[in-house]
Amino acid sequence: MKQWWSVMVEDLNLNAVKSLQELPYIAIGKHLCGPATDLTLRCCLVDEKNVEQCGSNCHLKGLAIATCCHHLCQWKHYINKKYLTSLGIGKEEFHAITWFTSWAVDADHGSDLSDVMDFKLHPESIEKEECAEDAIGRAKLGFMCKQIIDTGRLMWLKEHGLETQLVKYVPSSVSPENHLLIASF
Ligand SMILES: C[S@@+](CC[C@H](N)C(=O)[O-])C[C@H]1O[C@@H](n2cnc3c(N)ncnc32)[C@H](O)[C@@H]1O
Repeated sequence: MKQWWSVMVEDLNLNAVKSLQELPYIAIGKHLCGPATDLTLRCCLVDEKNVEQCGSNCHLKGLAIATCCHHLCQWKHYINKKYLTSLGIGKEEFHAITWFTSWAVDADHGSDLSDVMDFKLHPESIEKEECAEDAIGRAKLGFMCKQIIDTGRLMWLKEHGLETQLVKYVPSSVSPENHLLIASF
């Protein structure tokens, strides 16, 4: 019989989960709102670094994390403050960025805005984007802000030795929460 457990991800110690010991596994997260995504990344990888200390075998092979609700992200939980700081983004700017992300999800998504916007999922593209003042421009700015937050997460995963990609898995006309962080060792 299957058993389901409910736990706050920040309280979860994967090294203590017996069924994961000795077995390779991947972590999947679907739309863990804002800071819960950062807490999930920390849960999966900070523990991974502490394997010896925890005295157990950890066999995390990869992650697939669909991000969402960037407007709820919190500076204190954000996983890659170092990256954002290197771009000149501190706590105050981060709060502004999280606020702007709501423009991506508030827009009319009858058409696939994230295709219209045609921005590339590379850190360098962040600096090049311009914001417009119409509805498309607001949505575009919102998506860019979500991308900045997700790019920091992607860079953090890279720093931990994973190969990573940020991919769009459905058109924004299906859901504007349509990006997936994929990472593997
Ligand atoms: C937007 S819902 C997504 C639910 C479902 N995965 C889906 O895609 O329909 C966000 C879920 O994240 C859970 N969540 C938020 N913060 C969490 C945390 N710190 N630890 C564990 N779960 C959390 C909430 O309880 C909620 O079920």
